[in-house]
Amino acid sequence: MRRSPLPILSALVLVCSLPASGADSNWSAYLGDKGSSHFSTLRQITPENVASLQPAWTFHTGGMPPNNRSQIQCNPLIINGVLYGTTPDQQAFAVEAATGKELWRFDPAAQPGIKKSGVNRGLMFWEDKANPADRRIFYANDHFLHALDAGTGRRISSFGEDGSVELKANLGRDAGGLAFGVSSPGVIYKDVLILGMRVGEGPAPAAPGPVRGFDVRTGKMLWRFNTIPSPGEFGYDTWPPNAYTHIGGANVWTGFALDEKRGLVFCPTGSAAFDFWGGNRHGNNLFANCLIALDAQTGKRVWHQQLVHHDLWDRDPPAPPTLVNVTRNGRKIDAVAQVTKSGHVFVFDRENGEPVFPIEEVPVPASDLQGESASPTQPIPTKPAAFSRQLFTYNEITNIFPASHRQVLERFSKLRPHTPFAPPSREGTIVFPGFDGGAEWGGAAADPDGILYVNANEMAWILTMVESKKTAGAPLATGEAIFSQICAACHGQDRMGNKAQNVPPLVGVEQRLKKADVLALLKAGKGVMPSFGFLSEQQQSLVADHVLGVAPAPAAPAASKPGANSAAAKEEMGGADVLGSIPYSTTGYNRWLDPDGYPAVKPPWGTLNAIDLNTGEYRWTVTLGEFPELTAKGIPPTGTENYGGPVVTAGGLVFIGASRDEYFRAFDRKTGRELWKYKLPAAGYATPSTYEVNGRQYVVIACGGGKIGTKSGDAYMAFALPAAGGAK
Ligand code: HEC
Repeated sequence: MRRSPLPILSALVLVCSLPASGADSNWSAYLGDKGSSHFSTLRQITPENVASLQPAWTFHTGGMPPNNRSQIQCNPLIINGVLYGTTPDQQAFAVEAATGKELWRFDPAAQPGIKKSGVNRGLMFWEDKANPADRRIFYANDHFLHALDAGTGRRISSFGEDGSVELKANLGRDAGGLAFGVSSPGVIYKDVLILGMRVGEGPAPAAPGPVRGFDVRTGKMLWRFNTIPSPGEFGYDTWPPNAYTHIGGANVWTGFALDEKRGLVFCPTGSAAFDFWGGNRHGNNLFANCLIALDAQTGKRVWHQQLVHHDLWDRDPPAPPTLVNVTRNGRKIDAVAQVTKSGHVFVFDRENGEPVFPIEEVPVPASDLQGESASPTQPIPTKPAAFSRQLFTYNEITNIFPASHRQVLERFSKLRPHTPFAPPSREGTIVFPGFDGGAEWGGAAADPDGILYVNANEMAWILTMVESKKTAGAPLATGEAIFSQICAACHGQDRMGNKAQNVPPLVGVEQRLKKADVLALLKAGKGVMPSFGFLSEQQQSLVADHVLGVAPAPAAPAASKPGANSAAAKEEMGGADVLGSIPYSTTGYNRWLDPDGYPAVKPPWGTLNAIDLNTGEYRWTVTLGEFPELTAKGIPPTGTENYGGPVVTAGGLVFIGASRDEYFRAFDRKTGRELWKYKLPAAGYATPSTYEVNGRQYVVIACGGGKIGTKSGDAYMAFALPAAGGAK
């Protein structure tokens, strides 16, 4: 055990760093605490003084890729004066929380075979109660979970294999070449680290998404809850009999909320893959799209509620649930609130999963896609009212300029009339609120009065299904077919890419890349692009040639057998023949924009809402963000699309970045009045954290930008009130 060489000094530091109010000066778990409340008891910064909030320090993390296509979605931890965060390229770092001075950094890619792809939303902290020198920072990247010494950033070699656990192992089936990553942190209950993951959701084969508990000391897997049940497990009959052998998804990609007192972990599960066609997964598909309460020690299910049956819209819960305390009809209820992409809040009694506000099964339209069987009803809570509009009618068409109205109307008249849960279609289905929500991964904050603060998007997107290009009897035997079914969802059937999603166009790519470059990319993936190791060598070669504009060679007999050289893998994971049996692909994730690039729907486009969960009524709703050029034309602030969540404080404020205009803002928690804003070096698409060091309260936010067409950055910025001599 390491002892401080200067016990007196460290005791002194401890005294000095005690918060004046007895409040918690730390931000020791993702989103503030293990209940994901986004709440801080700090009260130095108030509605009265927030106008003088100013930058305290800026830390440039480095680690931006050469093409500057990066983001930071991290909600940093702050523990005893040290801030822990991640860089755009997945390095972990520690800085002094009062100054931003770097203490250490850890580069996972220093280890061979570990990539720095994807995004990271945060880390986990644990200390051994019996041995206070053992303090650990955990975080995952690629398909590894790393345990670092919180003091030095070095791997804890007794954990897993030399400090890391391979997360693709122990999934219940082989996930060999399949896409896998971890974007959100897990949660730690006693000595059990509970973790989810991100897996594929396209028509390609996808890994399953069980929830797992790992020993914080050794990394050993302690339990696994299969979210796609095996024979004999509850929910097995909500799928076709062999679904558990090849259907993927139903993964917790957003994080958790933990009720430490009850030992319950609340797990919001993702949709099953393929997102938009479920003809090979008839049934309600438990435990996809659920909120599941598990015993955190054993992984045993206590209760569950499914929020979307047989999802065909990627309508999975977008954020961790939030623990709240409400009083309903005179009864105090320890509740858990789950915000959704559709713009609803489901509120359940934590104990037994009983809805606090009744839920109705509402009839929804049937699907006319080949082989599809949509659920006849979907659950909708009777209260609170949705925080995003639910219907895109003629009346919702943008009115900011006559020309944009005309153009959107023209498209509108060719699409199917919108209804909530309108099934995917070939002529185009309006998805409103859009694919990312409604609520998005930033989630909601809750204060001890039972008020929920949630930022919302009101964007319409269009989902268009296309019939897969098949070659008779041999699916995926041509580069064109592979591209259409797998690559086009991101790069577009027309190869024009998707600027808002940061997906580059592939038109003219042969001038930049050689075949070997494309093959390397397909093997390893890069940034948000997953690896495509499940395709056979031949298929990889065919699609590379297709992308590079090389004329297809006459089909060799072997090439007409997809996955021929990975027969074993195919056997185990359902493989590429499952892919070949999916009759549809999509034209990609497309926001519906007017000719000037503004949303096709009438403003507001982004809002911040305060909902009283005791009554189910709204306290206030305000727009979040603006387009300065529209405001200058006399259009009232429209709000903008926004990513990253709010923080609420006992001091009476709601802090949030998230908006596309790159401002960081403070609102009065009681009234929703905007009291302060600051233009960040790049947009703050991340949830802020607040903490106190030496009697001074700070608010910090990662300014990573890099979404919805805004620039990327590598700064974390901390703000505080002027030192005024008094605060040290
Ligand atoms: C989930 C979305 C997604 C899918 C599916 C996808 N890509 Fe990509 N692709 C990306 C992104 C994002 C990048 C940019 C990566 C970076 O530079 O950070 C990219 C980059 C590329 C590039 C490099 C472009 C350049 O200008 O450097 C090529 C080539 C490419 N993809 C080909 C493919 C092929 C072929 C497929 C299908 C087998 C495919 N992609 C499927 C998202 C995707």
